[in-house]
Amino acid sequence: MINDIIQISKEAGEIVRKGFNKNLKVEYKSNESDLVTDIDKASEKLITDFIKKKYPFHGILAEEGGNIKNGSEYVWVIDPLDGTVNFAHGLPIFSISIGLQKDGKTIAGVVYDVEMDVLYSAEIGGGAYANNEKINVSDNSNLQHSLLVTGFPYNIRENPYSALEKFGALIKASRGMRRLGSAAIDFCYVAKGVFDGFWEVYLNPWDICAGKLIVEEAGGKVTDFEDKQISIHSKQILASNGKIHQDIIEILKRS
Ligand code: IPD
Ligand code: CA
Ligand code: CA
Repeated sequence: MINDIIQISKEAGEIVRKGFNKNLKVEYKSNESDLVTDIDKASEKLITDFIKKKYPFHGILAEEGGNIKNGSEYVWVIDPLDGTVNFAHGLPIFSISIGLQKDGKTIAGVVYDVEMDVLYSAEIGGGAYANNEKINVSDNSNLQHSLLVTGFPYNIRENPYSALEKFGALIKASRGMRRLGSAAIDFCYVAKGVFDGFWEVYLNPWDICAGKLIVEEAGGKVTDFEDKQISIHSKQILASNGKIHQDIIEILKRS
């Protein structure tokens, strides 16, 4: 099935690429920072139509609501455009993220970085790849020499889990922290060893599903802030190369 996921991610990528910097129909969701465009919807429709046709008995969990809950052991978890705020402002950092779960366990995942034209993929037990080249997390075990990345959820004004204090503490303890605006790409940059760690609160299952598997298959670790295993429904995400994981957890716990 991985070839199907790759193919449909690239087709959705074409829709997104063609829509970039064109006139968009933009609507608000939970607040004025939480956007959905006609391109998010068109990308989701293409992906879910494909699944319904080829795998009519599979379940679907998709951000813009194209869900099918039918008790199938297979569920596709889809973010049709991750980085919508970037997309709507003309910043070329956004992706398509598709994970496939069997019995609640992610077995395959693809993140397509549309403007860089890099497709990240992983199958459980098979390693992680960027455009068919194997990728690995970084080897760095020194937090002070680490480059981290984070993101902020749409409810950041409520400062959930003291995310703003955590940001302050970690930026002081590391070499720097970036905020790219596409959680799925953040995971892939950890998998590729660009970032040593990525943390965020209040992500959604479609932000996490494919990226988590890609990090794990690249040799990294993904847990909550107490080092516990997580599902795609977790509201705390820490992904790292494994070597700086405990040091980050210590700081997350204290802040
Ligand atoms: C968002 C992005 C962003 C993250 C937000 C997500 P969306 O997804 O992944 O990086 O900080 O928490 O909601 O809304 O662009 O699909
Ligand atoms: Ca998203
Ligand atoms: Ca999205």
